[in-house]
Amino acid sequence: MEARTPRGFHDVLPDEVRRWQFIEDNARRIFDLYGFSEIRIPVLEFTEIFARSLGTTTDIVEKEMYTFTDRDGSSITLRPEGTAGVVRAFVENSMHAKAPVSKLWYGGMMFRHERPQKGRYRGFYQIGAELLGPEDPASDAELITMVWKFLESTGLSERLTLEISSLGDNNCRPQYKEKLVAYFEPQSEKLCPDCRRRLGTNPLRILDCKEDGCKKTAAGAPKMIDNLCPDCSAHFEAVENYLENAGVPYTINPKIVRGLDYYTRTVFEVTTNELGSQNAIAAGGRYDGLVEELGGPKTPAVGFATGMERLVLLHEKAHPGGFQKEVAVFVAHLGEGARTAAFKLTSALRDRGVSAEMEYGGKSLKSQLKRADKSGARYTFIIGEDELSRGKVKLRRMETSTEEEVDIELAPSLSF
Ligand code: HAM
Repeated sequence: MEARTPRGFHDVLPDEVRRWQFIEDNARRIFDLYGFSEIRIPVLEFTEIFARSLGTTTDIVEKEMYTFTDRDGSSITLRPEGTAGVVRAFVENSMHAKAPVSKLWYGGMMFRHERPQKGRYRGFYQIGAELLGPEDPASDAELITMVWKFLESTGLSERLTLEISSLGDNNCRPQYKEKLVAYFEPQSEKLCPDCRRRLGTNPLRILDCKEDGCKKTAAGAPKMIDNLCPDCSAHFEAVENYLENAGVPYTINPKIVRGLDYYTRTVFEVTTNELGSQNAIAAGGRYDGLVEELGGPKTPAVGFATGMERLVLLHEKAHPGGFQKEVAVFVAHLGEGARTAAFKLTSALRDRGVSAEMEYGGKSLKSQLKRADKSGARYTFIIGEDELSRGKVKLRRMETSTEEEVDIELAPSLSF
């Protein structure tokens, strides 16, 4: 057999994991400052949860879900994103009754059957957050500010652009959709077959189509942001105002439509121009109708998710190297008796909170020092039978290759 992952899936090897952990640690720290608690939800849900949440005419639901029939005949789907599952958990656990505001964050694998390329996978990892309860534009701005501060904490914000827009609500969007249909219908022959169909099902999706003809035709289409009702317009202005006060740099991009149907009002995307076509690093927005859609009480909400692989790719570009695991002390030994002493010393060092590694097997001193060097250790203890008989051990400072003898009893308590 051939040992390999299915197409679009990948391993994250230990050296790379350290980079992931750096980003995850920052996420945890910043989300905590903003009052978010972690929630852990299953990687799969009943298919209906996603179909209802994301919209049956979205690419994800139409073409990209990993769906299978469970042994009891129910239709199950591996989660293509996290929001639907978090909202399902919010409703199922009556979280609205426990607190007027729920601030939840999550991390985990998502699954979409897309065409794999650099930065786009079938199994990918998202970190996201959802703020459920308030309709106040301050909550949109708070969430977007948190996203920006998190990205700043990873040292990448200079390579990123934050764009915001508004998709209106049930009040103004239906009229806007009519305007779109009136615009596209007379030139429908310029649209791809999918978009001609979308004209009747979900005309907003045409604005998101990657086909050249559709892109060109969509360029002159009316914009949602010019067709907002007074309430949506006031909401958007307030979000802008809060962001300006928080010093978060943003631009307005009226072309943002997002690939999921649950959005209302504020939407945003964070992009980079350093990763080619897979340029979306993070994205999100408000979704005031989703909790009700999944059977809960009317609960406005706003959230976001970031693609970890893309953030890590960008981080690698910005900071190449320098994320290997390093130990503080290496313990080399020569001779059978010395090996037992080395084992004891290595354990004692770890007990004192010093990261230490020892050589296995009976290698030459030269090859042990080579491994010590590679491990990044600043100091190496060298235990030989001769020194050992005098209760001593050699301590080598790796940078200068200087050596001195120290008492083996005192060795674990030295400062490194
Ligand atoms: P999304 O825009 O579909 O939104 O995905 C968010 C991020 O996940 C993208 O910006 C991208 O970085 C990453 N991503 C998406 N697909 C892939 C892929 N195939 N390979 C690698 N990375 C990918 C959502 O998922 C919403 N749930 C966000 C949200 C939360 N909105 C409100 N709350």
